[in-house]
Amino acid sequence: MPAAVSAERIWDRCEQLARCSEHPEKLTRVFLSKEQVEASQLVLGWMREAGMVARLDAIGNVVGRYEGNRPELPCLMLGSHLDTVRDAGKYDGMLGVVTAIECVARLSARGRRLPFAVEVVGFADEEGVRFGATLLGSHAIAGTFDPKVLDGRDRAGSSMRQALEDAGLDPDRISTAARRRDEILAYGELHIEQGPVLEAEGLPVGVVTAINGFTRYAVDVTGVAGHAGTVPMTLRRDALAGAAECALAVERICSQVPDLVGTVGRCEVLPGAVNVIPGSVKFTLDIRSPRDPDRLTAVRDVLAECRAVGARRGLKLDAAPIMEHATTPCAPWLMDQMAAAIDAEGVRPYRLPSGAGHDGMAMQAIADVCMVFVRCEKGISHNPAEAITVEDAGTGARVLARFIEGFRGR
Ligand code: HGY
Ligand code: MN
Ligand code: MN
Repeated sequence: MPAAVSAERIWDRCEQLARCSEHPEKLTRVFLSKEQVEASQLVLGWMREAGMVARLDAIGNVVGRYEGNRPELPCLMLGSHLDTVRDAGKYDGMLGVVTAIECVARLSARGRRLPFAVEVVGFADEEGVRFGATLLGSHAIAGTFDPKVLDGRDRAGSSMRQALEDAGLDPDRISTAARRRDEILAYGELHIEQGPVLEAEGLPVGVVTAINGFTRYAVDVTGVAGHAGTVPMTLRRDALAGAAECALAVERICSQVPDLVGTVGRCEVLPGAVNVIPGSVKFTLDIRSPRDPDRLTAVRDVLAECRAVGARRGLKLDAAPIMEHATTPCAPWLMDQMAAAIDAEGVRPYRLPSGAGHDGMAMQAIADVCMVFVRCEKGISHNPAEAITVEDAGTGARVLARFIEGFRGR
């Protein structure tokens, strides 16, 4: 394939997006933040340069459309997310958005129109870092946005509803972002692997077979705050000691089943003073598996163990579900087309599951989904050390361009 896609421009644009951050040294760009607005404006401009009509939808997704050879044709939708975790890497999400735009720019530069439209979406929130609930942008497009999440609060105590209003968006109009199944022929996403498999296989890209299911909980542990110097150990109701026992139970239970993983990612200790016995701890659970029965059994066992710890230690323990998604299979007909694009690029097609969650989990409500992974160094992600090579970015872009230009609807 003539290499009209520019890996250097992809690389440079990931660098530009990385500068849209709440913190100068630690890339952090959460939903509805001012840095998210900056990033969205950059992406709107790049989409327009690539010949797309570009807009922000009712939840702040950036949506670009490149018409087919006739107006109003259904589209092949490509996308990924523009938000990041805290102290993030530069490629999780952004690489997929920037690469898809690059593929459309290649079409536009050659004046090529396909028998379908191509849309690119930069989702406004996939990570769920600010409010806990995840896949907000893709759920809005899929028409499955749950208004209950509007009451979720961030670390400063602002509700999602308030944050949307502050950003000039109307929480009651989010449903207008929803698309119909007959508008979308398929959803495809390029994303870094965030794992070590492709590197171990010596491959730059791979075809994703499924996106592992996940369950997230918020757990509140309430004990009794007290003087660190005067309360005897036998009389304490130490919320942090209880939460720590729960975290070890997560590790023990989730280490017993292949491919099952469990994480306590966030833990807030209150009142948080060196000389006060913690009276309250809020922590999160994230449990995942490619097999839903294994995940659901682990969630049941972990919650039972947490409650037993609370009873044993005289702690009040409340566990509230945040969000849950079943494992999402990628569509075989799309995996085959992605594998053919990889093969045409001279790379051995290799298929692997995704341990990380992706927007395809929400998009599968209105379209068949597929993903192509790009190798990342040592599989590191959700970490500023996340790294890819410009060569692999180029290979990923050429594969995605082949997939798009060779796409055949069902
Ligand atoms: O948590 C995840 O798996 C994704 O990075 N949001
Ligand atoms: Mn991520
Ligand atoms: Mn991601």
